[in-house]
Amino acid sequence: IARNFSNSSAMQSAIKNITVIGGGLMGSGIAQVSAQAGQNVTLVDLSPEVLAKSQKSIGANLGRVAKKVYKDKPQEGEKFVAESMARIKTSTDPAAAAKSADLVVEAIVENMGVKHKLFQQLDAVAPEHTIFASNTSSLSINEICSVVKRKDRFGGLHFFNPVPVMRLLEVVRGAETSDATYKTMMEWGKAVGKTCITCKDTPGFVVNRLLVPYICEAIRLYERGDASARDIDTAMKLGAGYPMGPLELADYVGLDTNKFILDGWHNKYPDQPLFKPIPLLNKLVSEGKLGVKAGEGFYKYEKK
Ligand code: NAI
Repeated sequence: IARNFSNSSAMQSAIKNITVIGGGLMGSGIAQVSAQAGQNVTLVDLSPEVLAKSQKSIGANLGRVAKKVYKDKPQEGEKFVAESMARIKTSTDPAAAAKSADLVVEAIVENMGVKHKLFQQLDAVAPEHTIFASNTSSLSINEICSVVKRKDRFGGLHFFNPVPVMRLLEVVRGAETSDATYKTMMEWGKAVGKTCITCKDTPGFVVNRLLVPYICEAIRLYERGDASARDIDTAMKLGAGYPMGPLELADYVGLDTNKFILDGWHNKYPDQPLFKPIPLLNKLVSEGKLGVKAGEGFYKYEKK
């Protein structure tokens, strides 16, 4: 976090005003890193309760950042938190919020129809120069932007959870993303403290295209009875140096999320063997064993 912060304060970006749509897990993180890098943020959600909760959690997270970065200067830390918070406005009206944005980052529900409706509405009212980006994990950027006129000013900005901690940003170039848009997105990513990589609009981009099939292969291995869950996880931690085993990671991400991504890809690419449905995964999800958040997945957890 300290590294992100010091990087971001030194960088400049052509983007000054950003609108983040969706104030959930990802949207609130994107709003936080943008505000702490000096950008004016409007955070939008349909629900005022979600916005109030987001503001509270952003305040708490900024407090933690301040404690680290301004260890010996608590007053400067307080100023940093207050100034960053003051840069975040909230709204329940996406169209009004897009009118003053240089960049709109969408982080709403992972549903093509809902995203289409939102972007169509925004395209009609946002200024000419405004760039639109989606934080989608599993949908196609080209398909999302098919409903807007500004296809050259559209791309993917794919963050990782938790946004303030994870240092990577995947910058996704759609078929019609212009060089200028791509360059602006890369510069903005650096300005908010992320290391950016570039990827074409392919399923899962880089990280999830590798990670989801890897997790699925671990589930299949366990399903066949080739090894116990604990041994599969120990093997990958001690043998491959991964910080978490694949089944622990699946529980952490949520088995419903894993299934949702896999099913989406399978429907689109039915011949790809890595994307085939997994009976054990479907069974666990149907039983409500969704992983850490449900108290049980491949392992049992104390319910929070
Ligand atoms: P979330 O469920 O925590 O938040 C989504 C928010 O969007 C909710 O607060 C909901 O009220 C709001 N919303 C829904 N429709 C809306 C609309 N039309 N206008 C305004 N607000 C609306 O979801 P989360 O996890 O933050 O995911 C959001 C997006 O980010 C999805 O596209 C997901 O694929 C992507 N993503 C998620 C990651 C994760 O680890 N959860 C990682 C990277 C990307």
